[in-house]
Amino acid sequence: MSTIYHLHLDKKQLKGAKIAFVPGDPDRSKIIVQSFDEKGVELARKREYCTWLGRLDGHPVIATSTGIGGGSTSIAIEELAMLGITTFIRIGTTGGIQKNIKLADVIISTGAVRLDGSSEHYAPLAYPAVADFTVTRALVDAAQRRKIPYHAGITASCATFYQGQERYDSFRKYVPRSLAGTMKEWQNLNVLNYEMESATLFTACAANGLKAGCVAGVIVNRTRREAVHEEVVHRVEINGLTVAVEAARQLLREGKV
Ligand code: URA
Repeated sequence: MSTIYHLHLDKKQLKGAKIAFVPGDPDRSKIIVQSFDEKGVELARKREYCTWLGRLDGHPVIATSTGIGGGSTSIAIEELAMLGITTFIRIGTTGGIQKNIKLADVIISTGAVRLDGSSEHYAPLAYPAVADFTVTRALVDAAQRRKIPYHAGITASCATFYQGQERYDSFRKYVPRSLAGTMKEWQNLNVLNYEMESATLFTACAANGLKAGCVAGVIVNRTRREAVHEEVVHRVEINGLTVAVEAARQLLREGKV
């Protein structure tokens, strides 16, 4: 059997897995799968895409990294869907933009503002980027059960980390006029956070009849500073992973994949 081009996987390797965790960072695929009861195996690694397979409560489940941003995320979704994945759970990191959001809290995105670019190749901008209700409910249930502080709401999902998220600590410390002032606007519109993959994930999945949810740990609060707090990244990773894995267990138990 030939392998699919970018992910470098074939269908047989997935052992019938229906759920994929989709972190951005290739190193997180291993961390996610090794948190299952049965330790897993690495299936493939090519460019930004690293896939691990493990068993969660006896069910085959994979983790495949997407890399950063909509373009590479869209490739991962397309190829995973061709290999039989129907449910995608993104585990990411994020910058909170509301004052009450604390470091290491998790944000469960119910929908995304489509500032990503890539989602426009799936559907016109009037089409909403919304998470799957069942997956999102499982993520909220999981955060409540595991007592992990969470916020559920709308995420601004951007094509760029610096200009699109109105950061001034970039090379030229310049944000074009079309983007200057946009953080204030999203705050006023009750958007919770910035990240870079959920709009593509939600739009591509909804448009193709697939299910997607997103949980992201807060590594900076933008009402206080621009640079991420590297010292909280590990704690953030654990919180996001705990919520996502617990949610997947619930979906598998309830047969909702
Ligand atoms: N990821 C983002 O896209 N923005 C942040 O501020 C942090 C993580």
